Amino acid sequence: MAAIGFDVYGTLVDPLDMERHLRALLGGQAGPFAARWREKQLEYTFRRGLMRNYLPFDRCTAQALRATIRALGAEMSEADQARLLAQYRELPPFPDALPSIARLKAAGHTVVAFSNGVEATVRALLDHAGILPVLDGVISVDDLRTFKPDPAVYIYLARRVNQPIAETWLVSGNPFDVIGAKTVGLRAAWVRRNPDAVFDPWGIEPDCVVTNLDAFADQMAADFDMST
Ligand code: 2OP
Repeated sequence: MAAIGFDVYGTLVDPLDMERHLRALLGGQAGPFAARWREKQLEYTFRRGLMRNYLPFDRCTAQALRATIRALGAEMSEADQARLLAQYRELPPFPDALPSIARLKAAGHTVVAFSNGVEATVRALLDHAGILPVLDGVISVDDLRTFKPDPAVYIYLARRVNQPIAETWLVSGNPFDVIGAKTVGLRAAWVRRNPDAVFDPWGIEPDCVVTNLDAFADQMAADFDMST
């Protein structure tokens, strides 16, 4: 049986759902705002990782919100910003997340969340989403004070689930995360929920590409059936 680390933001819960909350404040600008906020949040983690100037993910998210407000010239009160950050801590799960993780766990796999998010925030988020009870654990890069795709975080995942690197899976909707895991020698699945999503042409490919987590659970069932 395998040990499987599930990325959180963009894989189990949907950060772009913030568009729904932003609509009342920004109207038609809500979609581009949500996308830019997410991009800026990730950019800040990449830059802080390179600079070795760590700040917890929640703070990166808050700073990215402020940067997006400035970049798009949006009007937003402090109270609105605080409310958006609270809503970010209650992002909705993708509908396939809970049933597929429950299936994988019932099949005997070890299933953990593996995120840039700090552990307390991720636990509260996944509890709200109803996913926490089926997980075997929540592993945060915060323990190492660095971010994905620092190779150290993927090695840490394998160590925490007590498996050889080559038998540890990362399942992620984020191509940079998949490439980070593959570079270190993990197995990795890319969850391509959006058919328009592009995988970086770095010559490093995922072990499998699936459209959702149900398809990943199907694939694991088929693989383990064949290997028994
Ligand atoms: C996560 O670590 C990368 O946002 C993504 O949950």
